[in-house]
Amino acid sequence: MGVTIEIGLPGQTEADALAVPVARPPHGLGGEGGRIVDEKLRGRLARLTSSGELRGDPGEALVLHLDGELETPRVVAVGIGDRDRVDLDVLRTAGAAAAEALSRIGGTVCWLLDETLPLSLADQARALVEGTILGGYSPGLWKTQDDRRPRAIERIVLGHFDTQELREAADRAAVVAERTNRARDLANMPPNELYPASLAEHAVELAGEHEHLTAEILGPGEIDALGMGALAAVGAGSRNESRLIVLRYEPPAPTRPDLVLGLVGKAITFDSGGLSLKPGAHMEDMKGDMAGGAGALHGMGAVAALGLPVRAIAVLAAAENLPDGNAFRPGDILRAANGKTIEIINTDAEGRLVLADALWYARREGATHVLDVATLTGAMELALGDLYAGLFANDVEWRDRIVAAGERSGDLVWPFPLHQRYRRYVDSTYADMKNASLLRQGSPVLAAKFLEEFAGEGPWAHIDMAGPGFFERSRGDYLRVPGGTGYGVRLIAELAAGLA
Ligand code: BES
Ligand code: MN
Ligand code: ZN
Repeated sequence: MGVTIEIGLPGQTEADALAVPVARPPHGLGGEGGRIVDEKLRGRLARLTSSGELRGDPGEALVLHLDGELETPRVVAVGIGDRDRVDLDVLRTAGAAAAEALSRIGGTVCWLLDETLPLSLADQARALVEGTILGGYSPGLWKTQDDRRPRAIERIVLGHFDTQELREAADRAAVVAERTNRARDLANMPPNELYPASLAEHAVELAGEHEHLTAEILGPGEIDALGMGALAAVGAGSRNESRLIVLRYEPPAPTRPDLVLGLVGKAITFDSGGLSLKPGAHMEDMKGDMAGGAGALHGMGAVAALGLPVRAIAVLAAAENLPDGNAFRPGDILRAANGKTIEIINTDAEGRLVLADALWYARREGATHVLDVATLTGAMELALGDLYAGLFANDVEWRDRIVAAGERSGDLVWPFPLHQRYRRYVDSTYADMKNASLLRQGSPVLAAKFLEEFAGEGPWAHIDMAGPGFFERSRGDYLRVPGGTGYGVRLIAELAAGLA
């Protein structure tokens, strides 16, 4: 936490390294700044390019030690690919590559902006700041030897003269990226440390950081009293009690007092599958099954930290899915808070159950525009991999807004159908619906049709982020380490900014 952002001409601020974006030939050093730097270096960057040692590929970073040629002791040459194809993600990747190349020293990096790139200076600032912060993230918080842990950049200087636009873009990006890293911390926390009650404590702490943010925590007694039979059942097999975690953000002067953004997050702190036990391989990654909840929580934190004039409520359904004598079973029929009955086919389809009651609660508390985020189905990851999440929505305008916010923020989403004739996938012989099907078809849309039954009146969208929410391995761009990705934080901040 707490990266310092400054804006100032390179040479007028101290830094441990000057970061110079380098494109692929023939326009490697296109901008004026890059050319001046290379003149002072007597053409060393150009020679590295012509020798093929520096290709200018996105993600590439090469550190050179200097001998007084510039005010900084180092230059880090950072690839940005083909100059005319540079976009926000390419610069995020450049930021992250520099952070990684400098991860043995940390300190201050000064970024050279480039007025010849096909991106505004504000967008360049945004992406470089975000990438530098996300790329400096380390999941090894539990390593006891300090020298095994990389050092993150502490201060970022944007090498340009100061404008309000540039400053605002850079500051906003820093806030959102740091919140994203905090969501990653939550997803990476082991399930013996992060369980529903400790996640609730995090929410209470977060609320304490912001004037207009409040937290309310509901325990098993309140969950039962509200008739939330679906949420209650999922947590029944664990000695770690369930929690419904509610955050409310009420800014003093909302632009649209009639609009309440409702964020609903799946927060299964560990998903063993329950009695429908998962296979052992990779089960440890199911500590990340609360990544949607973490995204909603710190997305809300970002909205509050940015002071966006949008009313919002976040509802996290937190439970641990374990098998034991009290566990719910296949064959059980549950009654959700909205009165609908659910036949359990598979206890591993638990996310939709806890979300059912959380969606109902968000509506009851006045949410007008609802978005749920969840690591819901393995099939979504099979379909889209680690880059895009799947999006399902009951409203075209709401869907399009979310797609656009995803595109701008880097939390990518792709729309999937929610046709009414998929409803038969959840038809049950005994109850209003079933939570899973033995038919191995369309599992993400089946889950979405299930959730739709609890989405209430008004625009609702569901993001299945099973792929981009938690990594087994680096994606190689600006998310360079395994584990939690903070998916959702950036999208929520962007979406809320657009509603303001
Ligand atoms: N949390 C899992 C989905 C998941 C799997 C997320 C892999 C990330 C990586 C979810 O609770 C689950 O188990 N879904 C089942 C549903 C099935 C039993 C109908 C699935 O997708 O296999
Ligand atoms: Mn499951
Ligand atoms: Zn799950």
